[in-house]
Amino acid sequence: MSDILYRKTWAEIDLDHLLENYERAKKATRHEQIIPVIKADAYGHGAIPVMRHLYDRGVSMCAVSLIEEALELRNHFADLDILLLGPVLSDQLEVCSAHDLIMTIYDGHILSAVLASDLPLRCHLKIDTGMSRYGFIGKEEIRHAIRGLKQKKNVRLEAVYTHFSTADVDETYYRKQLERFKTFLPLIEGKIGIHVGNSAAVFKYEKDYDFTTHARLGCSLYGLSAFPIDPPLQGVMRLKSRVAQVKTVSKGSCVGYGATYCPTTDERIAILPIGYADGFLRTNAGGDVEIHGKRYPLVGRICMDACFVKVDDTVRKNDLVTLFGGLISVDEVAKRLDTINYEVCTSISARVPRIYVKGSETP
Ligand SMILES: Cc1ncc(COP(=O)(O)O)c(C=O)c1O
Repeated sequence: MSDILYRKTWAEIDLDHLLENYERAKKATRHEQIIPVIKADAYGHGAIPVMRHLYDRGVSMCAVSLIEEALELRNHFADLDILLLGPVLSDQLEVCSAHDLIMTIYDGHILSAVLASDLPLRCHLKIDTGMSRYGFIGKEEIRHAIRGLKQKKNVRLEAVYTHFSTADVDETYYRKQLERFKTFLPLIEGKIGIHVGNSAAVFKYEKDYDFTTHARLGCSLYGLSAFPIDPPLQGVMRLKSRVAQVKTVSKGSCVGYGATYCPTTDERIAILPIGYADGFLRTNAGGDVEIHGKRYPLVGRICMDACFVKVDDTVRKNDLVTLFGGLISVDEVAKRLDTINYEVCTSISARVPRIYVKGSETP
């Protein structure tokens, strides 16, 4: 993607806000470091610039999902500790070893492969306490895995972890997972890391634990939250565009594909150069955008590269439009799309340049 913004549509990423959220999360724990989760291109915010900002301020570890994501990071950060949260297959040990990636041991197949390998390997062991995704469930298999990994000279078992599925919404199930995890603590002997907290657990519960060494921070780093935090976290992504054309549509003409919006009197319509190929999904139709600090409704269908807004006489070509991250929050958009705020940000496609700013400056 070129540095020149030929098309006036971009996602502003506020690195000051990102850092503030990180510091707030850190204060909510007893930990020297929490692990930023920067999978899916840092939840759509740009993994390399996000990590650069944190790394330059002393953060030395991160978590991603895929080996591909880890390799891209490794190209930029030679000594970063990169934890792979997603599944590594038995024939992928070499790439993990060669690039010093920390793999997750999550089942018997990968465990056997690691136990049979002579490669230098770093790993964390994942216990499934109730999410029913990756991880070991049974006490005996966990005991066997920890013992086996610890006995291998070429393998460093650096931590054991689990993941909560309801720390944001259901305390009872969260506690069930926590108690289950605690039953495995006697198996984790020696100097070894332990992390359980995601964003919700960091803010709600992490201070209660005396056995954890780290936590993993995803959505809250980006100011996205599935639960109320007081004061609220700082939003990090602001989706912006500039009006490309304004025209008067008169009675008898309709707006957009399918002619679904047909004004009954003359109406001023602004056309924005952003559409569903940018991740501004068609289901945004009927929502609002912000221009000059005021709300204006999206009308007609969202096109692949453009959308329509019903405006008044004050709106002109090239005026700044905030689609979310200002008056209109990412949560409002999530509600409009019947989804969660994570999905709104991760859906903004690679075609939309990310512009990194500090404070609320606008490029
Ligand atoms: C294993 C694991 N840990 C931590 C996180 C971060 O969770 P959150 O975004 O809720 O902080 C995720 C995100 O899905 C995850 O899969």
